[in-house]
Amino acid sequence: MLTQEENDLLTYTSPGTPGGALLRQYWQPVALSEELPESGAPLPVRILSEDLVLFRDDRGRPGLLGLHCSHRRADLSYGRVEDGGLRCLYHGWLYDIHGNCLEQPCEAAGRDFRHKVRHPAYPCQEFGGLIFAYMGSGEPPLLPAYEALNAPPGHRLVTKILHECNYFQANEGNLDPSHVSFLHRQSNVPQNLKRTVKGSDGRLPLSLYAADMAPEIETEETDFGIRIFSIRKTDEGRTFFRVTNFILPNLATIPGPMSGDGYNLYWHVPIDDTNHWRYDIVFRRSAPMDEKDIQRNQEILDELTADHKPIRNKSNRYLQDRESMKTWSFSGMGRIFNVQDTAIVEGCGPIVDRTQEFLGPSDKAIIAARRMVLRAIRDLDAGREPPHVIRRAEANRFPHLMIVSEVIADGSDWKSYWKNKFTAVNQYEGQSP
Ligand code: FES
Ligand SMILES: [Fe+2]
Repeated sequence: MLTQEENDLLTYTSPGTPGGALLRQYWQPVALSEELPESGAPLPVRILSEDLVLFRDDRGRPGLLGLHCSHRRADLSYGRVEDGGLRCLYHGWLYDIHGNCLEQPCEAAGRDFRHKVRHPAYPCQEFGGLIFAYMGSGEPPLLPAYEALNAPPGHRLVTKILHECNYFQANEGNLDPSHVSFLHRQSNVPQNLKRTVKGSDGRLPLSLYAADMAPEIETEETDFGIRIFSIRKTDEGRTFFRVTNFILPNLATIPGPMSGDGYNLYWHVPIDDTNHWRYDIVFRRSAPMDEKDIQRNQEILDELTADHKPIRNKSNRYLQDRESMKTWSFSGMGRIFNVQDTAIVEGCGPIVDRTQEFLGPSDKAIIAARRMVLRAIRDLDAGREPPHVIRRAEANRFPHLMIVSEVIADGSDWKSYWKNKFTAVNQYEGQSP
């Protein structure tokens, strides 16, 4: 349970809020690269309760500007991309990606005052199939070179999904290993609904989650966030061992279909305090995405509209089918986990009232993440840089950000198994478990 003040700190992200100041210390994804094709239209975007326009200038560089023209507030997303910037339709003022006003053609020669105009503009970078912006003050830090972003393009699939709720409660779902045994449980899926993706793809069966519904959960703090261990017993008495991660300030990783040879990275970016985008990056380390991966991704896309909204949504009660709940599906909300997660976190209300919760030991990771974020907010408020704001190239490597989903074959206990695994990856990197 949190106090109202703590809940507000975690969930309010508009300009001037302490939680919003924290998120603005980090690069945030603001669009998929594919949403902003070369020579495409400017894109109106709302991020952290700010109305903005994202565009590519005629050199292909992404720029993020205040949506409303500095002259008389026309909507710049209807503007023309030309002459090195974005030109307002109303009187032709021209802005470059840095917010400089290059032209005021409606003023007589020699009478313009463009040098006095400083239009709101945020620096952008394109990386890993996403366009990122830095919306904080001061020198932007480095964009974290997570393996999922750094991988060659063919090794990665990137999409996004609208959530009609606060960003923090949705990310808490990623830090909650026990819900997988319930919400996502399904067995004996009818033939016509079975995944079209066939064959072994390295994923462990869902039955492992059903076999032990009360996993042991342990957490530890790292320099990037919280490492979460979940340990389940299998029917054969072996150990099903997973490592997932909370990453400051609004990310998480789960094994996903790549089961450790890559992972899913989820980035929850507020549109405002009661809506957000979850950016999903799925990547494989050892090989490019194959037909099966693309097909699996298509099954997720089939649950979304062309503008990335879930077809199953609150207005149609997520098309919950109670007949299916009697036979194969715990949730009655189809097979796709992403949609089931969205239904739950939206159902908690636009902003979860955390003064009314009743947390237990299975919520350990969520408690740890909240503590860390609240501490980071207070650090920032006191003038200290929060953790995981990366300033040095040497610190921009993450071999210790490990994602695991395995049944421990040799019968060893999970702590020694983890120590060996971690050391094998990190021994040359100077990181210790
Ligand atoms: S309102 Fe944009 S140029 Fe006048
Ligand atoms: Fe989930």
